[in-house]
Amino acid sequence: MLGRDLTALLTARGDDFTALTRTDLDLTDADATASAVSSVKPDVVVNCAAWTAVDAAEEHEAEALAVNGRGAANLAAACASTGALLVHPSTDYVFDGHASTPYPENALTAPAGAYGRTKLAGEQAVRAALPDASYVVRTAWLYGAHGKNFVKTMLRLARNGTAPGVVADQHGQPTWTADVATQIAALIDKSAPPGIYHATSSGQTTWFGFAEEIFTLYRSSATRDQDQDQKADPERVLVSPKPITTAEFPTPAQRPAYSVLAHDAWYAAGIQPIGDWKDALHRAFPAILAQAGA
Ligand SMILES: NC(=O)c1ccc[n+]([C@@H]2O[C@H](COP(=O)([O-])OP(=O)(O)OC[C@H]3O[C@@H](n4cnc5c(N)ncnc54)[C@H](OP(=O)(O)O)[C@@H]3O)[C@@H](O)[C@H]2O)c1
Repeated sequence: MLGRDLTALLTARGDDFTALTRTDLDLTDADATASAVSSVKPDVVVNCAAWTAVDAAEEHEAEALAVNGRGAANLAAACASTGALLVHPSTDYVFDGHASTPYPENALTAPAGAYGRTKLAGEQAVRAALPDASYVVRTAWLYGAHGKNFVKTMLRLARNGTAPGVVADQHGQPTWTADVATQIAALIDKSAPPGIYHATSSGQTTWFGFAEEIFTLYRSSATRDQDQDQKADPERVLVSPKPITTAEFPTPAQRPAYSVLAHDAWYAAGIQPIGDWKDALHRAFPAILAQAGA
């Protein structure tokens, strides 16, 4: 999801880059990773690869760690030997989720689950290998035009006339992958100080608030564009999500109740953080709607 949007941004900017899929390079293979970096000789590497199946990581922590921890370490070692700068996206799941004010970049990490533990291992490996040449870019609640994500799921339900129950007691910052790509480019363009940055939208909401906004946008687009299905059954466009609690929607991995991240490092580097989550969703919506075929 992030890799595709970063590729689109670099193409639009006319940057010279090489984008590798998992088939091209498996990060768990240290030799292949070293040889890919030394043959491309990049100035900057952005690691968009990760084990992102949060629930599956609970039962497959070793496999998740192989990618998120050792894969990141392999890439960091390769960058250290060639002098490349490494940008390493990470996650809000490195925090315990029990705070009530936004987590600063240097807040104590205490992951509640396997995915967070493996991502934290990756962060630590990257910062240890490249203290002066790495950016750990934590993001959260990602959505975008590519890959499965919450916005696409809600769009499918809205289109089917299904009113989902959506968790209303978890707080976070829905974040568009294209905005994360822009922040990554800004770090490099401005030679920002190495360290940890929080690439999440500003403001905050709950999954339920996020769903409500998606349904509202879908309703106005269906009405405006006179969506064929909705014309056939106009009642369906009236459905709305219903608020439920985390207890009513159990998952194998515990979700953080509070995942709001602070943005101080951007200001210190002279870079604007990502703007309000609702504004981002409105900007992203046409491309996601088109991609989702809704
Ligand atoms: N999605 C979110 O809500 C979210 C939230 C917070 C942080 N993040 C972080 O943001 C970053 C980007 O996430 P995303 O949602 O864009 O991820 P994504 O869509 O799941 O993409 C991850 C990519 O990594 C590839 N990959 C997996 N194992 C690999 C390996 N061993 N070697 C090489 N490539 C491998 C996958 O390939 P295959 O598809 O072929 O397996 C896939 O293309 C990740 O660091 C993630 O931890 C995501």
